Amino acid sequence: MASDLDVIQRFATSARLAKQAGFTGVQIHCAHGYLVSQFLSPITNKRTDRWGGSLENRARFALQIVKAVRTEVGNDYPVAVKLNSADFQKGGFTLEESIQVAGWLSDLKIDLLEISGGTYEQLSLLGMEPTDVRESTRKREAYFIEYATAIREAARIPVMVTGGFRSREVMENALAKGEVDLVGVARPMCVDPELPNRLISAEIDQVPCYEQRLVLGTGWRGNNSSIEFIRAINAFGQIGFYYWQIIRLSKGLEPQTSLGVFRAFWRHTFNDLILNLRRNK
Ligand SMILES: Cc1cc2nc3c(=O)[nH]c(=O)nc-3n(C[C@H](O)[C@H](O)[C@H](O)COP(=O)(O)O)c2cc1C
Repeated sequence: MASDLDVIQRFATSARLAKQAGFTGVQIHCAHGYLVSQFLSPITNKRTDRWGGSLENRARFALQIVKAVRTEVGNDYPVAVKLNSADFQKGGFTLEESIQVAGWLSDLKIDLLEISGGTYEQLSLLGMEPTDVRESTRKREAYFIEYATAIREAARIPVMVTGGFRSREVMENALAKGEVDLVGVARPMCVDPELPNRLISAEIDQVPCYEQRLVLGTGWRGNNSSIEFIRAINAFGQIGFYYWQIIRLSKGLEPQTSLGVFRAFWRHTFNDLILNLRRNK
């Protein structure tokens, strides 16, 4: 089994390989419930050694990775970190902790801090909130903007927010008010990678929001149905929809935006199953 230090070095090696391959920067993913955020969160990090317990210990893995990556790629190469504003789970990684980690990351002189939130168990990263969240909160754009504003004060480095931005007005407002330094857009880019240019040139004011119609039937409160099974189909159907568009673009095909949520769900689940079966052979 790989030791903690081996794993840290593997991040650094991957960063070096990305640089050698011609990528113009790397991002260390410390959000969304992946490995580094599992170290940060007290829900998943039950260690009693120097990698668990206090925030300082839980953050050690992330900070050591950043240091190792920096050593490997040099001072002039852009290194970004994606950090959760919070896990939004009881007993999980909190905003106060995120602010503290953001401060430590800026001490290490990273080039960009991207703020997101949630995990694949609690899908606020895709705008899916716990069922007790108010309707007004659910409908707004830019899910993590208030959190990012608080983190930005501690960060002293450029901060980007990804999650829910769909209109030029909201993006420009966030920039003008100094809430963020950069705006991140993810899902719409799976359908139209030219979107940023079209927004900047004012060719369009609004980005299509396919996820709003990618919900199973009507009357189940759409994305935020309280029925867990429906929520799961909606969530993984939406993810499947966007993966399908990426696959099509990679083959030089036009996007297929007529794809329904249920078909996208099955296609995604089936593809994952086949991939796993192949891997386990
Ligand atoms: C198909 C798909 C793949 C994604 N893959 C990643 C990923 O590899 N890394 C990541 O940080 N986020 C990933 N995300 C989440 C997005 O980066 C982003 O946080 C989320 O879609 C919310 O932003 P948006 O409202 O602009 O789409 C993915 C989302 C989708 C739909």
